Amino acid sequence: MSRPLRIALTKGRLEKDTVGLFEQLGYDCTNVHEKGRRLILPIGDGSMEVVLAKANDVITYVEHGVCDLGVVGKDTILEMQGKFYELIDLGFGRCKFALAVKKGTDFYSGFGVKTIATKYPNVTRKFFESKGMDVDIVKIEGSVELAPLLELSDGIVDIVETGTTLKENGLEVYEDVCKISARLIANTVSMKLRQNEVETLISQIENYFAAQG
Ligand code: PRP
Repeated sequence: MSRPLRIALTKGRLEKDTVGLFEQLGYDCTNVHEKGRRLILPIGDGSMEVVLAKANDVITYVEHGVCDLGVVGKDTILEMQGKFYELIDLGFGRCKFALAVKKGTDFYSGFGVKTIATKYPNVTRKFFESKGMDVDIVKIEGSVELAPLLELSDGIVDIVETGTTLKENGLEVYEDVCKISARLIANTVSMKLRQNEVETLISQIENYFAAQG
């Protein structure tokens, strides 16, 4: 008997919505609610299990095939890329990538090469390449909003959800980059070897979405 169908799930913001979806599909997620410090949690009748991981690691585990499926934000997919299938837009975790600057700044004025701080250098590079614009990119690990405030950068490319973080730090969206939401991804081999189980889950999700209108 093979191991349960294993789903890597992004901890934090996407966790609650993903568990909510599985519960709507009829999977008992008591183990996840009562997880304590456990990281691998059987759900439903035990034929599926959830692995709680950081977003980048969800992709790593799915790419390596130690998890068959993953739930991860499009932001992480765009930044990390990799070899896996992107199956469904799950509709939750909606936010956007945006170029933000200090309030009132005209970003495109002047001739010097601009500096952009970001946690997402690949997304940022692609965005400015598509404009034919040369920029210096500085990788920051967290609270990117600090960079323009400290005069390290002319702007940031970051996730904007409610806009509160920008507002409370005197920054504003200058331009939208792209929309983001949570996606179901799959290992390429699992799609073949566990086709029935994966397709059953996909149908359940699609039927649920269809019933919601
Ligand atoms: C993200 C992002 C912004 C904030 C935006 O950070 O980097 O800082 O959320 O959300 P808002 O528009 O609703 O204010 P996150 O909270 O994920 O933390 P991180 O910096 O550790 O990635």
